[in-house]
Amino acid sequence: MSIELFAMERMQSTWENLVDYDMSESGVRPLTLRELVEMGFDLDTFLDQPLGYSQSNGTLELRERLAAIYPGADVEQIEVTNGTSEANYLIALSQLQPGDEVAIEVPNYMQMPGVARSLGAAVRTFSLRQDTGWEPEWDEFERAVTSRTRLLYLSNPNNPTGSILSRSAMERIVNRCESMGTWILADEVYLGAEIDRERTPSFWGMSDRVIVTSGLSKAYGIPGVRIGWMVGPRSLVSECWSQHDYLTIGPNKLSDRLASIAVMPQNRERCYGRTRAILMHNLPIAREWIARFGGRLSWREPQAGAIALVRYVADITSLDVAERVRVNQSTLIVPGSHVGLENHLRIWLGGREEFLREGLRRIGSELTALFD
Ligand SMILES: Cc1ncc(COP(=O)(O)O)c(C=O)c1O
Repeated sequence: MSIELFAMERMQSTWENLVDYDMSESGVRPLTLRELVEMGFDLDTFLDQPLGYSQSNGTLELRERLAAIYPGADVEQIEVTNGTSEANYLIALSQLQPGDEVAIEVPNYMQMPGVARSLGAAVRTFSLRQDTGWEPEWDEFERAVTSRTRLLYLSNPNNPTGSILSRSAMERIVNRCESMGTWILADEVYLGAEIDRERTPSFWGMSDRVIVTSGLSKAYGIPGVRIGWMVGPRSLVSECWSQHDYLTIGPNKLSDRLASIAVMPQNRERCYGRTRAILMHNLPIAREWIARFGGRLSWREPQAGAIALVRYVADITSLDVAERVRVNQSTLIVPGSHVGLENHLRIWLGGREEFLREGLRRIGSELTALFD
């Protein structure tokens, strides 16, 4: 099976540890084990954990705790994976066949288009429109989701716009997918990273066509633990488990244990609270920085997540802008073309204040040179 390059991930893996300022990230500054202990996590049992294989679909303890987050779900409807990305991949592997169609919201985290095409499926996209607060472009949506559509993938809150779908938009998506017999894969890894608003409602429970994926990488702030999960209908989850047996067998034992502690309600809220505090602190810094460009840069402020999606006005591709910023400023940003939206740049907002200010200063001086 051949697969196209995942442009954004490969760019990040190539450069993120070589540049002075990695502003291409998408979560908040990651926590250390010591910080987790200081936040009240009880990690004592960690040292006595035998380092054997773990339960391949996730320990019962972790699946019970995850099931409690999703009303009505039981442990057989949960599969614990190596990151949200593995959960998404397993769903595609188990559900897609050559000739299927897949509908994808753009801009987005562009894992699914590459995976779907590698499995022989055709990808149809529909846009989120900035001028309507990133609501889907409904005509495109209806053209993209038809009786041939096996799976729809969206991220909510969305990477990279930081937008959250309205309740009526969620219902419209669910109703259409139900009538077409389409699986709705709602990637909710940013749920809990809301900046100054109520918790994002989950798609979970809206229909038996819904599959939710999530993980510890964004709202929890611990991506290196590499734990994600899916929750969905029993038969689909069981098919994904079969794929998992072949792929990685299962998640890392220590990570499963740490996840069990992280997803306990009081710990989860501690992580979400820290994420919110970082983002509330950093958002005004980005706001002020963008305002300085007087219309050459514009954005719709994110409702969730540690990303600024910034539109620029200049006759140059986003890839060329990102390349100049990297080469001349040793600073990494994501070109809009890597998330499906040209003339935009994706800039990380989740770092420490000094880091954020210096990263923005460097990006700014390159953009100023470009605009002059
Ligand atoms: C929407 C979305 N899903 C999945 C992932 C990958 O998550 P994980 O680190 O849990 O594999 C990302 C990473 O940026 C993402 O933005």
